[in-house]
Amino acid sequence: MVEFFIDTASIAEIKNVLPFGVISGVTTNQKIFSCEKGINFKDRVQEILSVIDAPLSIEVTKTNESDEALVAEAKEYSSWSPKNIVIKIPMWANGRGLVLASKLHKEKIKTNVTCLMTTNQVVLAALSGATYASIFYCRVRDAGGDPVKVVQDSKRIIEESGSKTKIIVGSIRKPEDVAEAAAAGAHIITITPKVLLQMPFHQKTEDTIKEFDQAWLEFKASCKE
Ligand code: E4P
Repeated sequence: MVEFFIDTASIAEIKNVLPFGVISGVTTNQKIFSCEKGINFKDRVQEILSVIDAPLSIEVTKTNESDEALVAEAKEYSSWSPKNIVIKIPMWANGRGLVLASKLHKEKIKTNVTCLMTTNQVVLAALSGATYASIFYCRVRDAGGDPVKVVQDSKRIIEESGSKTKIIVGSIRKPEDVAEAAAAGAHIITITPKVLLQMPFHQKTEDTIKEFDQAWLEFKASCKE
């Protein structure tokens, strides 16, 4: 069964959807954190984990520094909660992300190789030992690719090879994207609160509920005391 993660760093948004009982992880990136003004990064990460005891992806940021600085950043984040913190590593064109992912894999640090647009990138992430590989669904489409095919092909290759890497599909913009990605075989879909909150709604469902409520009222009115 597909799993759903929530794509936000907002405590209020996480608390709002947690009671649905459908969320089993959290993903973030620098852009998502930039919406959370005036907070302390480490405090917020710990606060998220106090609300939900589940995998939380946070991205390395020291991209203009040495490989050693990146490894140190990843290790520091992971030390905050080795069980739940997942280090997000971009698929840099020069392979630097793969070097980092394979190094962290050897040290048993969980990783999420991210910003993936092609099946080749997903395969590379899986071979590097990534815990998760994040396909950016709508950005694939923006770039002229076919996200359904990328998810389907990646899933098949991963399954046939026996790799343990889980595919996370992110960059979801509407409920229909979630259904497509799930049908294509995503292990996990990370969904913004805005999209998740739209998912229970269908006008015909609303109309049907009203119809049944009305029928019940009519039935009750006809009943003997
Ligand atoms: C997933 O891990 C990313 O955080 C996110 O889904 C990216 O989505 P965007 O294309 O809306 O930036």
